[in-house]
Amino acid sequence: MDQYAVIGNPVSHSKSPLIHRLFAEHTGQKLEYKKLESPLDGFALSVRQFFEHQGKGLNVTVPFKEEAWSLCQQLSDRARLAGAVNTLYCDENGHLCGENTDGIGLVSDLKNNGVHLKGKKILIIGAGGAVRGVLQPILNEKPALLVITNRTLSKAEALVDAFLDYSSDYSVITSQGYDQLNEAFDIVINGTSASLSGELPNISDAIFSSDTDVYDMMYSKEDTVFNVWAKSCKVNAVYDGLGMLVEQAAEAFQIWRGIRPETQEVIQLLRDA
Ligand code: ATR
Repeated sequence: MDQYAVIGNPVSHSKSPLIHRLFAEHTGQKLEYKKLESPLDGFALSVRQFFEHQGKGLNVTVPFKEEAWSLCQQLSDRARLAGAVNTLYCDENGHLCGENTDGIGLVSDLKNNGVHLKGKKILIIGAGGAVRGVLQPILNEKPALLVITNRTLSKAEALVDAFLDYSSDYSVITSQGYDQLNEAFDIVINGTSASLSGELPNISDAIFSSDTDVYDMMYSKEDTVFNVWAKSCKVNAVYDGLGMLVEQAAEAFQIWRGIRPETQEVIQLLRDA
């Protein structure tokens, strides 16, 4: 049977095997999908061995997405810009190919929830790998304004420089410091890892209005601290990153199997689990 896996360290918490098993059941595809824990200093070897033993595809998670990017012999435009790869496969010539489906996953999940980015004023908080990975698909939707803010402003400035060519007649991309933010946005996306440690970015609640849709790229069983804060500011709606996780997986499944699974039922199943 065709073999797939999610590779990371640690990887025991990963929901990807469950998600792909459900996709396979729903689409009638026969495949096996496992967890593969790679030694921190042995990622390249783990990947090589996986594909030498007839593995068909890997999802890459923390902390290997950037290293996966460097290993690839071919990158999609999206992956090249993202500087990180979350989906690996080999083409017919045996070349290792890399794609990044995180940003598509985020945009799809927002759309599923009726949140469209075209013409909107968007604030994205954070300037690490997670944010870099989603910028191009967001800009592709032609928001009116995309502001990147970060605790360390220089990192937000560097990201804006890297993506300036991808803003267009429709979109302005710019950076602002936390203390410069004093106006409400249509959409606020938290792409920091602050929620992991239960912390909030030190930003004014002026970024929220009753029309603001809020998305935390993290997810947890209860609301993330960021979403608790946003709710207390009476925003329009809050979403977490569970839908993004399922949507990025669906995109990877399509690359590997040529068929796009339904996602809504899987998101609901995970939510209720
Ligand atoms: P990831 O791959 O998850 O993006 P990363 O590249 O280490 O991880 O980036 C972490 C991001 O979360 C950064 O934007 C970081 O801000 P700094 O660049 O200033 O370090 C942000 N972050 C982490 N903890 C934070 C906190 N407590 N408050 C605000 N921002 C935080």
